[in-house]
Amino acid sequence: MTTASYRIRPAGPDDVAFLADVTLTATRAQGRLPADLDEADWRGGFEEWSRESIDDPTTDLNVIELDGRRVGRLRISRTPGSVELNGIQLHPDAQNRGIGTAIIAELQSEAATRGVPLELHVERDNPNARRLYDRLGFAKTGEDGAEDVMQWTEGTQLWNAEVARRYDTPGTGMFAPDVLGPTVDRLAGLADGGRALELAIGTGRVAVPLSERGVPVSGIELSTAMLAELRTKADEAAIPVVLGDMSVVRAAGEFSLVYLVFNTIANLLTQEQQVACFRNAARHLSPGGHFVIELWVPELRRLPPGTPATVGVAEPGYILLDTYDVLNQHVVSHHFHFGEGSQAELGRTPHRYIWPAELDLMAQLAGFTLESRHADWTGTPFTADSPSHISVYRLPTT
Ligand SMILES: C[S@@+](CC[C@H](N)C(=O)[O-])C[C@H]1O[C@@H](n2cnc3c(N)ncnc32)[C@H](O)[C@@H]1O
Repeated sequence: MTTASYRIRPAGPDDVAFLADVTLTATRAQGRLPADLDEADWRGGFEEWSRESIDDPTTDLNVIELDGRRVGRLRISRTPGSVELNGIQLHPDAQNRGIGTAIIAELQSEAATRGVPLELHVERDNPNARRLYDRLGFAKTGEDGAEDVMQWTEGTQLWNAEVARRYDTPGTGMFAPDVLGPTVDRLAGLADGGRALELAIGTGRVAVPLSERGVPVSGIELSTAMLAELRTKADEAAIPVVLGDMSVVRAAGEFSLVYLVFNTIANLLTQEQQVACFRNAARHLSPGGHFVIELWVPELRRLPPGTPATVGVAEPGYILLDTYDVLNQHVVSHHFHFGEGSQAELGRTPHRYIWPAELDLMAQLAGFTLESRHADWTGTPFTADSPSHISVYRLPTT
């Protein structure tokens, strides 16, 4: 489908009658106008609210134009922590031309560049809009009256249903007993009889065996698809999970251990978010509590000056290429899977890499001190050549 060329411009006082019109027409076309609606009364209120929105510096009320003709309404709010799509209505004549999808893609790109989520509310009686948002990678993160709250981040896109379905590899890879056994042993020791919280709990690779060991485990997770996989193994009573961003949301209760493994702090793409994540970990811990991070050491020594990428793996059917943006400390892993033919499938995962020294400083900002750093879960000494580390931070006891 080709996208019609549209233009978005700020709404002015002359647009308020149009904005009410297009909202009524679009809602009527969806069959969602109450039969007893007093149209004149509704219109008066809506136009008044639109006038106020035009003067409100915290929100952007826009008109969508197609070939110089007004065809839609778009309201957006931008906060330091998010982009919020407050409303998008298109006249039925301008629908099914890819305009809504293109506008949302623009907003997704803006949110991704700023490293913040794109949020919206969708009425539960609007299944068409819901289908569109599901298709565009939004995940439900809560409810607000008759509406579902939905969020898109680069993360929800990456950790989708297909990735979640293929994530678990029981008995091998990251699920091998010689990987998981020492991980669970060490974490159980650090929990020291208290409760543990896993940030970015995923499908419960670590949380499930840790909870089976008798440690009460809770979690925070962004992806509904990953959480759905966890729920096939442990219910909410066994492992309670709060859906949301690990640098922001609060899980109930106090913990003696918070842990964030498998390089996942690097999924937060700004230093600000990574520091917020440390602070959020500290907020959940009782005095003397531990925060454990498993993270790789940036591989910049493999990058000769002037070379923007390294080949991590080159084997039949699979090539891993890491491209670097050294200025922003970003590395994007490009996973190319291919068969005999000339077609390939590409998956991308963006990260903000962190040096151990920077990690320690983030910990310090949140009130932690480094208690230990090892090369692995069995306590192998960390050296200048270690490819990754297990860092254990601790809050003061008082
Ligand atoms: C590599 S998996 C790790 C899952 C699990 N911790 C493990 O060790 O198997 C990364 C997980 O981080 C989650 N995630 C990414 N960004 C997140 C964020 N900002 N807040 C919460 N979870 C996040 C993803 O949805 C995914 O489940």
